[in-house]
Amino acid sequence: MDIKIIIKDRNNEKRTVSAPIDMNLNLMEVLKIHNYPIEGTCGGMALCASCHVYINSENLLPPISDSEQAMLDDNWDSKQNSRLACQIPMSKDVDLLNIEIAPESF
Ligand code: FES
Repeated sequence: MDIKIIIKDRNNEKRTVSAPIDMNLNLMEVLKIHNYPIEGTCGGMALCASCHVYINSENLLPPISDSEQAMLDDNWDSKQNSRLACQIPMSKDVDLLNIEIAPESF
């Protein structure tokens, strides 16, 4: 089964992409597959924040781990709705998740 993710990029362009839920992918990997400019430098360990996104829907998401929180706290452009995409596994819970890619960190 596939789910849909609604993505707003850094140019404010919105697109809906499909993602399978049976391939053990996280949102960072889905963004990379669809050629979004997400580096994922740490390989999904919540250690680089290059996969920072804002969540604009009310989907049920896994709780924020201590390391994710620490990365978000250190990030100048973090907001209340910030998450690291690599910490969001693809599942039925995130169908129609609405996200915005955060500005590039320097
Ligand atoms: S890929 Fe490094 S924090 Fe998500």
